[in-house]
Amino acid sequence: MKILYLASKNFGKIKEYKKLLSNVNCQLLLQPESIEVEENGNTFRENAIKKACEVSKKTGNYAIADDSGICIDALDGKPGIYSSRYAENDQRRIERVLKELDGEKNRCAFFIANVCVCSPSGDLILESEAKCFGNIIEKPRGNSGFGYDPIFEEVSSRLTFAEMNNELKDECSHRGKALKKIIPQLLEIFA
Ligand code: IMP
Repeated sequence: MKILYLASKNFGKIKEYKKLLSNVNCQLLLQPESIEVEENGNTFRENAIKKACEVSKKTGNYAIADDSGICIDALDGKPGIYSSRYAENDQRRIERVLKELDGEKNRCAFFIANVCVCSPSGDLILESEAKCFGNIIEKPRGNSGFGYDPIFEEVSSRLTFAEMNNELKDECSHRGKALKKIIPQLLEIFA
């Protein structure tokens, strides 16, 4: 069975990938602890490519990565590519966003994920992007998920990501939708 490294150290993402790739005949392994990739790109796409290419080159195996984040209209798209670095932990990041939106009527936001796959030689072979639209609510709701999940209410279900079960989040999330687009190619590569 071919190995696919997941270029991430984010446990929330890792859990989602395991489910989303469960039909792909690969051995999904976490990025080795020793590999550090600096996320210094200017776009989600640049960061995703950097993570997957470095991990594939250093391990000599296929690697998949996503760079994702939340973009809030009233904050001119922030936190954006800085979503994971907006404060020291998930709770502080949520507090900062809620404070910055205090009194703001426009609560529109979207999550975005840029997913890419690199070959064992480090070449970019697949890429995909998807968004999920919603609103930032005033008080966190729900206990599942990670990151900004408790304050992001998805537009059609009116549920926060943290109130959804795994199946529903995978169906409508930015990451779920971006991965779904490249599943046919992944099934071929890992046949
Ligand atoms: P990355 O690992 O640099 O791509 O960081 C993405 C960051 O965006 C995460 O650490 C979260 O803060 C946030 N994020 C991305 N996807 C999600 C999601 O599905 N739910 C909640 N937060 C997310």
